[in-house]
Formats: sequence, structure tokens, C-alpha cells
Amino acid sequence: MTQQRRRLVCAPNPRVLTGGGNVWLFGPGPSDGCALEGDSAELVLAVLERAREPIDEQRLVSEIVTAAGADLSQRQAIDQAVALLVRVGALVHAGDAGDAAPEARAARVTGRVLLAVTGAVGSAHAPHLVQLLLRAGHEVRVAMTRAARRFVSRRALEAMTHRRVDGGLWEGSPSRPAPHVELAGWADVVVVCPCTATTLSRMAAGDCSELVSAVATTTRAPVLLVPSMNTGMLDAPTVARNLQSLREAGFFVAHPGTGHEVAEAPVERVPRRGVGAAFADVVRYAELLLERASAAGPRLPSRAEWNVEHERLPASSDDGPVDPDIVAALQQHAPAPSRVLDAGTGAGHVARAAALQGHTVVATDFSETAIRRAQAVDPGAPVTWLVDDATQSAVHAVFDICIDRGCFGCTPLSRRSRYLEQVARWLRPGGVWLLKVHQTPATLRAYAFDVEEIREMTAPWFELVAANPSLMRFGLAGERPSWTFELRRASSKR
Ligand SMILES: Cc1cc2nc3c(=O)[nH]c(=O)nc-3n(C[C@H](O)[C@H](O)[C@H](O)COP(=O)(O)O)c2cc1C
Repeated sequence: MTQQRRRLVCAPNPRVLTGGGNVWLFGPGPSDGCALEGDSAELVLAVLERAREPIDEQRLVSEIVTAAGADLSQRQAIDQAVALLVRVGALVHAGDAGDAAPEARAARVTGRVLLAVTGAVGSAHAPHLVQLLLRAGHEVRVAMTRAARRFVSRRALEAMTHRRVDGGLWEGSPSRPAPHVELAGWADVVVVCPCTATTLSRMAAGDCSELVSAVATTTRAPVLLVPSMNTGMLDAPTVARNLQSLREAGFFVAHPGTGHEVAEAPVERVPRRGVGAAFADVVRYAELLLERASAAGPRLPSRAEWNVEHERLPASSDDGPVDPDIVAALQQHAPAPSRVLDAGTGAGHVARAAALQGHTVVATDFSETAIRRAQAVDPGAPVTWLVDDATQSAVHAVFDICIDRGCFGCTPLSRRSRYLEQVARWLRPGGVWLLKVHQTPATLRAYAFDVEEIREMTAPWFELVAANPSLMRFGLAGERPSWTFELRRASSKR
């Protein structure tokens, strides 16, 4: 009988306590664990150490045997240690280890989530919700009411999101005079969690005197309310009426759950209705609303939004290249010096990389902030930087290669054919378009495509020569699955 080989890894939360020569393993249930000491304690620690990265079980065992300078008679003890760790959940099969793998993430739409925190005691846990949203691949910003600031540190939330946390209507700047309007436009979904009775009442009345109710009233994105309050408050006819009228006005309401009332002495607490929905479920509800919104097509950023986006990108994101696939394809298709156009250059890292390869490079973007910042990274780089809208371009030169990382995907449907015609005009016959787009399903900020769509759409002018799976950066939230297409310009429109 052949034994199935398995790859094991230390669980994200192995539930292990060490000290005084002992190791305690805590399983998922109250009676699943055990205490070890001496050699057995050392052995389980050695196994966990080796399994910090996924490792084949056979290799794990033989490495420990070798490291201990022991003979194979020890093998049985090591096998038992591994079996014990698997039983208590401290070791798990690689692939079951918590964070969603990129493929699993790819199956979901991600977006910009504005977490609006109000002054319920549950707001003390807001950083955990931020963490869950970030882990699920969303871009997260946080807005707070004054009362919420008494329960949770703005600094902690800023550290987690790497974004400024807004705490009031009057905290804007000359370039951002009305934070509530900017946040309302930025968000793909607004999650008010926890949501107090007071904020419910403001929103139901259209009262915009606090930041959170102002954003929730202003935005056209879906708003998810996660009420969290004392049972008496929740059952009060006024609160029930507010919730009902908010539902009727198009807000979404997460049904409250059961938890403890902090007003009661710790020893006297009993489960009571009114606590906000569990955070894992809040993430699921937000994702459902994002999916519904994406069915209506992406919300393409305007030029002004791109300007804001590029203004806030940290300088480190100017370090590149972050698209090794494009740089490699360039090497393959363009003997230097070739004429290269980088349309929608963004931070300009690919344009600079192409210039380094010895090409003659023109880099364009319709965001003047992008061009200014890209140029400032290395003013001496031999790149011609231009502000230009590809759908009404003033660039009349002809190129051997056109690079496009996300620009086509952000072009509105109504201007798509103009864009395609323009790329065809830019390229000499036989020239290559390196086109990078999100794979479906994707973000709410760009169109996503599959291979056949691209082949059909570009067919009059281009021949699809390669479709390579790749990764595309998505805001500050990481990378998402994309396609890198290589399309050859036909000699004439076919
Ligand atoms: C210790 C403490 C806990 C509170 N917990 C809640 C709560 O869970 N839910 C709620 O609606 N209000 C709660 N409140 C009352 C709110 O903080 C208060 O109504 C405040 O005005 C809400 O303002 P906001 O909606 O602008 O954040 C609590 C107050 C205190 C002092």
C-alpha cells in the first residue's frame, strides 16, 4: 500500500504555549490539548520550527532525524510528534493555512471599502475588522465619529491601513476641503460598523452634522449598517422606526446578534441581543454588495481621481519595475534601440526600465500628477514624458512597441474603439502591443477580460500571439490576477 505524501505547515494560529521546560498544545476544543515535557517537548518544537514553511512530511521527518544526529529508530517518535501536532491543529496541510490563496481571491470582486466607525463600545475591535478586510484583498480607509475616537485609536487604524483616518468634517485641507464628499466618491461600499443608535438617527433624518452620517448620506455607493447597541436601545420604537426607514431609503442592515452588555458587571453578564454581526459576516455582506455593484459595470476613476491617487502614492512605489512580465516581453520583442510608447505610464517604472534597456521611450498618462511624479523620480532618465489622453491623442509618432498596463481596462466602453484605433495608428505594421488587463472577475475600478474577448475585440487590427497569466498591482491592496497579451499589428486593417 502506498502512503499518500502530504505537505505540512505550521498553522497560522498553532495554539502552543511554552515555558518552564514544558510545551502545552491547545487543540480547538477544551479537551483536545495536552502537556509535554523533556524530549517530547523538544521534538514538537523542532517539528514546528521546520514546518515554518510548507514542507513534505517525509522530508520534515528526515531533516529532524539528521539535525538531531539520531538514527532511524527515533523515527517513530518523530512520526508520533507530527501526528499529534496534526491532531491538535498546530500543523495543517499546506493550502489550508488560513489566508486566501491568490486563486481563491481571484474568484471574488475586491473594491474600496470605507469603514465608518461610530461610538459604540464594539468600535474598540475595529482594527480587527480592518485586518479582515485587508486580508480579503480590499482597499480600506476609515472614517470615525468623535465618540468613536474615545474607544479606538486613530493611530492604530492609520498604522493598519497606511492611510489617513478622518475623524471630522472640518479636518480637510485646501486641496481637500470636504472630506465627506471625497470619501463618499472614493468608496465602492461604505460599512458603518459598529453603528450606534445616534448615528442611525442622524442618517434617518438626513442629518449631516457628523462625518459618518455625512458620508453615508452623500455617497451613491451601497451603505451597509451594522447596528450594535444595548437591547433596550435596539427595541426602542424610535430606533426600530429609524432602521425601517433607512432600509426603505436603500440602506442595507446587518441583523444584530447576541453578546454581552458592558454596562453589566463582568460576573453578571448574560447573552443579550443587540451586538453587531460577527466581523467575518460583515466582510461577506460587504462583498455581496460589491458584487451587486460590479454587475452594473466598473466605476472607472476620473482624471481627478487618478490625480489624487498618484499624489498619495508613497515614493517607494516609484521603485520598480513591478511588471517583470512586461520587461521580459519587451526584451523578447524589441531589439534595442526600438521606439517604445508606454501609454498610461502611471509611476513610470516600466518606461524607465525600457529606457535603461536602450530604447527610445515616450511615456504618456492623462493624469498630470502621474507625469509630474514619474518624471521627478529620475529627471535625468531619457524618457519623453507627456500628458496625453489616448482616446484623443496628440502623439502622432509611430512606434515598434506599445505598452499598456491597465490603461485599456480603464477606458470607458464608449471610447474603447477610439482607443483601439489609436493603438493601431501608433504601431508600425508588425509592431507589438503589450497589453495587461485584469482577469475576470476583477476590481470595481477597471474592466476585466478573458482571452477570447481580447482576441475578438482586437481582431480587425491585431493578431493575438501570446496570452500569459500575470499579476497586476491593485492600488495599495496588493496584486490581482491579470493577463499579459502580446498582440501583433497587422499590415493593414483586416
Ligand atoms: C461606555 C459606553 C458604551 C457605549 N456603547 C454604545 C453602543 O454599544 N451602542 C450605541 O448605540 N451607543 C453606545 N454608547 C453611546 C454612544 O457613545 C453615544 O450615543 C454617542 O453619542 C454616539 O455618537 P456617534 O453615533 O456620533 O458615534 C456608549 C456610550 C458609552 C459611554
